[in-house]
Order: sequence, then structure tokens, then C-alpha cells
Amino acid sequence: MPEPAAKVSLTGVKPTGEPHLGNLIGAIRPAIRLAEQYDSLSFIADYHALTTERDPSAFRQQTRAVAATWLAAGLDPDHTTFYRQSDVPEIFELTWALSCVTGKGLMNRAHAYKAARDRNVEAGEEPDAGINMGVFNYPILMAVDILIMETDVVPVGSDQVQHVEYAADIAAAFNHLYGDTYRFKIPEAITPEAQQSQTLPGLDGRKMSKSYDNTIPLFLPEKKLKKLIRRIPTDSTPVEEPKDPDSSAVFQLLEQLASDEVVADARSRLTAGGVGWGELKDQLFDVVNAELGPLRERYEELIQPGSDLDKYLAAGAGKARERASRVLESVREAVGIDR
Ligand code: TRP
Repeated sequence: MPEPAAKVSLTGVKPTGEPHLGNLIGAIRPAIRLAEQYDSLSFIADYHALTTERDPSAFRQQTRAVAATWLAAGLDPDHTTFYRQSDVPEIFELTWALSCVTGKGLMNRAHAYKAARDRNVEAGEEPDAGINMGVFNYPILMAVDILIMETDVVPVGSDQVQHVEYAADIAAAFNHLYGDTYRFKIPEAITPEAQQSQTLPGLDGRKMSKSYDNTIPLFLPEKKLKKLIRRIPTDSTPVEEPKDPDSSAVFQLLEQLASDEVVADARSRLTAGGVGWGELKDQLFDVVNAELGPLRERYEELIQPGSDLDKYLAAGAGKARERASRVLESVREAVGIDR
């Protein structure tokens, strides 16, 4: 259990796309490890995803899938308060209160909104064409996610740092006006080392990413996983000839996932010749499958309707609401909307 004075960390995950091995190694595991050092909260930012999601049943399924993924990957719901954003209505009430102390100019300058406008202008469209108010208000909702939990640190990738700075700005604006009655904690972004350095190569050797369509999805059935790994492109050097290990995504992946001994051994066998890429692919499959097998099993249990997942999320929502309602009460009192 954390010390009573432990700092609060908050991780938000937007439920979009199928989780892949790159997410697990580069983001999910580092985040779970980091959370161990904090009084930690972690949540599924489903209302944030609603700025783009338009298929209700796919969205519902994705939200569950992301929650099951984090639990299967080892998130401990007894240590980390784990909840769904939409289960905490206090967040939406505070969003209005904080919208009323947030300058519109600040929102006009937000990266994601500005980028969407730039794309429109470039395409010869009206600047705001197709941009919904959810996209515009996104940073305020995210600020509330952070502030309502009295968060000290927010582990994020570099693309999210501005959002955390906005949360700090919005907190400061509120504190300036109402600080005699209630003060928000000023949050800080941290960009964990692992997120910066550990990028896993994809099936084509580029960074593993949904947008390159080169991922290894986390929960493929064993047979499909084997097929996928078998299909990784390699050159046609004959089996007996020496090979350049670093020329192939197969070796690059093995390098990131297998033990040092296994990697060194594979390297020397490839350079010596006599080993085919097919053999190396089988070895990679074994390593990946050993890594993902237990996760897959746990995931399959959790994704079933009525599984423990719902229990965990309900318990998490209860704890999160307790925290959030305390803060919301103070804010209501500070602004003059008492019960
Ligand atoms: N905007 C984040 C992303 O796209 C997700 C998110 C929403 C978040 N609210 C948050 C992250 C609060 C950290 C804290 O990845």
C-alpha cells in the first residue's frame, strides 16, 4: 500500500484501436511499473474517444477490450484505482465549472485543434469544417480528469505534454479567482524514459504502429500469430549462406523480446550461415507466444460478459467518485453553488 503522503499519478487511456505488442512493451508495461511507486489511478478515457468514435457497438467492445488488456497485462486494481471516465459524472460537472474560467484563446492555440484547422485550410476547406466541439473542448475535459483526482504527476507521451500544461494553466486560473476557498494542485507531466526509448519495430522494420499496419496484435489466437510471424518479409539468402541479422525485422524483434543469451546465439548462428530465416521465425514465434500466452488466457476470461472486469471497474468507479466528489464539493462551495 502507498504511504499516506505518496504522490498521486494518473494515467488516461483512450480506447481506440486494437492493442498491439508495441503498445504493451512501449507504453502499457512501463505505465504499470511506474504506477507501483505512486498513489496511482488509471482510467479508460471513453468520452475522449467519443470525439471520433461513431460505431456504438464497436466502441463498447473497444472500451471493454482496453480495460481487459490493462488488467491482463498486470495492472493491479487493488493498488491502482482503475475506472471508466464515463462512470464518474463528477468529471462532467466540473468540466462546466472549469470551462467558465478557461480562456477561449487558450483553446484556439491547442495543438490538436490547430492541426485540424491547418489541415482544412490546406485542403481549401473552411477552417473549422468537420471539427466538432468535442475536439475543441478536449483539453478542458482532460484537465478535469487530472485536476479532479488531485493529481501530482501525469505520465504521458510527448504529444500529450501540452494538454498537461493546459491543466496546470486552468488550475492556476481557478486558483487565482477562488484560491482563498479552494486551490487545485498544479499537475506536472512526466515522460517516462521507457516511452521515449523503447519503440518496438513492426513487421516491416519501421516503428510498430497502427498507422503503418505493421503490428502484432496482442490477442491473436496462437495459429494466427504463427502465420503472421511466418509472413514477416526477409531476403532470399539461401539457408547455408551467412546473413546480416540487422537487415531483418525478425531479428530486430527477437532482439527486443528474447534474453541476451538467446539474442547473442541467434546473431552468431546467422552470421555463420546454415540457419534459415524460417527457423528464426519459429524461434521468434516461441518467444512471442511465451510472452503473450498467459496474457491471452487472462484476457479471454476478462472479456466475457459478466466477468471480473465489471467488478473491478465498478469498485474503481466507487473509489474514483469518492475522490472526485470531495473536490467537486469544494469547487461548488468556492464558486457559490452550494447544495
Ligand atoms: N488525451 C490522452 C491521449 O490521447 C488520453 C487522456 C485523456 C489522458 N485524459 C487524460 C491522459 C488524463 C492522461 C491524463 O492519449
